[in-house]
Amino acid sequence: RPNVAVFASGNGSNFEAIARANLPINLALVVSDKPQAKVIERAHHHQIKTFVLELKNCLDKTDYETQILNQLKQHNIDFILLAGYMKIIHPTLLEAYPQKIINIHPAYLPHFPGKDGIGDAFKAGVSETGVTIHYVDEGVDTGQIIAQQKVPRYQTDQLEDLANRIHKVEHQLYPETIRNLIEKGEL
Ligand code: GAR
Repeated sequence: RPNVAVFASGNGSNFEAIARANLPINLALVVSDKPQAKVIERAHHHQIKTFVLELKNCLDKTDYETQILNQLKQHNIDFILLAGYMKIIHPTLLEAYPQKIINIHPAYLPHFPGKDGIGDAFKAGVSETGVTIHYVDEGVDTGQIIAQQKVPRYQTDQLEDLANRIHKVEHQLYPETIRNLIEKGEL
């Protein structure tokens, strides 16, 4: 079973979906840049180790990622799943994990990349948005797409309705996509 690290900055509902999916992986570590993130509590609940590191306590982004990389090495991490991790991945990690870092984005890329994929699609008034799983590269939500699913946005939707609909799709699509990649030997 591959050793996997999940990186998350917030609530961690996608981490939770992955942890509960009985995937053929060893969820070895949760990495967070936010000491108060709910994902940390969730990780402890699943008896998964956590590593919290704030950028403000590091010399720079290279130092930050080097410290994370040391942790990943200590836990023999084979691949990384970003689940609401709100930082750009820099070359230190990208070069150590080529094609081994995967992200979930709450929009149908290349539409609405960035920090607020749900809110941006909502404000744009589209009738359809979605969820994308993709490999991470040096850009913002630009890496090779692995899987996508469309999600309707209805006239009567409040932002929260659309967000809930998207999260529901995320919680199913992320574990399923990881399972498929492992079964195909691509991870
Ligand atoms: C998810 O909707 C995820 O797609 C999004 O953050 C949310 C995290 O929710 N990620 C991004 O916007 C990345 N640019 P969670 O903490 O409950 O999993």
